Amino acid sequence: MNAATEQMIANQLSQRLKHETATEHERMHKLMAEAAVFSSKERYTQFTLSQYYFQKEIEHLFEKQGVAELIPDLGIRGRSQQALADLQDLGLQPKGEPLQSKNIEMPEALGWIYVSEGSTLGAAFLFKEAQKRLGFSETFAARNLAAYPEGRAKVWKRFVQALDEAGFDQSQQDRVIQGALDAFGYFGHALNRLDEMH
Ligand code: HEM
Repeated sequence: MNAATEQMIANQLSQRLKHETATEHERMHKLMAEAAVFSSKERYTQFTLSQYYFQKEIEHLFEKQGVAELIPDLGIRGRSQQALADLQDLGLQPKGEPLQSKNIEMPEALGWIYVSEGSTLGAAFLFKEAQKRLGFSETFAARNLAAYPEGRAKVWKRFVQALDEAGFDQSQQDRVIQGALDAFGYFGHALNRLDEMH
């Protein structure tokens, strides 16, 4: 690969997102470990509640102006229904309402969706843990961690391609990255206060 091609790839939105949010992703690993979400059914239920609220926010963002034009397969994305069914399996009815998404528009919305879609990759590991440690599955209590029917990698690649084909200039890209940092901040906050969630 020559230097010009390397530079072009480095400037792609998906590459910038990956690199410029890497510290936050690393922080999520640490918070997940600290939260010990597989240590008991109760902890796992609280974690699933956090996933449910996050997914509700994300699905509200799907409706924002300009999002569907860029990501044409939104219908297959989003996991709030799966998370809700999981919560039913676990005997919990969520009482809260999503609040953040009211104030988020394009292009920041895309950064939030990036965090949600990216988290489906890490969920492969989480799904295995839920199976192994708690006996849950894609039909009971761990639906929200299961792969998309087409497979995780394929659906992710299509998302990344849509991001890179959006043709955003530098400042629009900066705003997408800020949205992703905000979404990681939101999820990190949730992981820090799983006990208070209802
Ligand atoms: C213990 C918990 C986690 C593990 C083990 C994990 C693991 C992974 C793995 C293996 C990948 C794929 C990396 C690659 O193909 O290059 C990935 C990607 C990603 N994960 Fe996680 N993850 C975890 C938690 C999270 C959480 C809580 C979030 C967000 C709420 C998150 C967001 C992302 C994102 C956005 C990507 C895409 C990175 C990219 O741009 O390629 N992850 N994760």
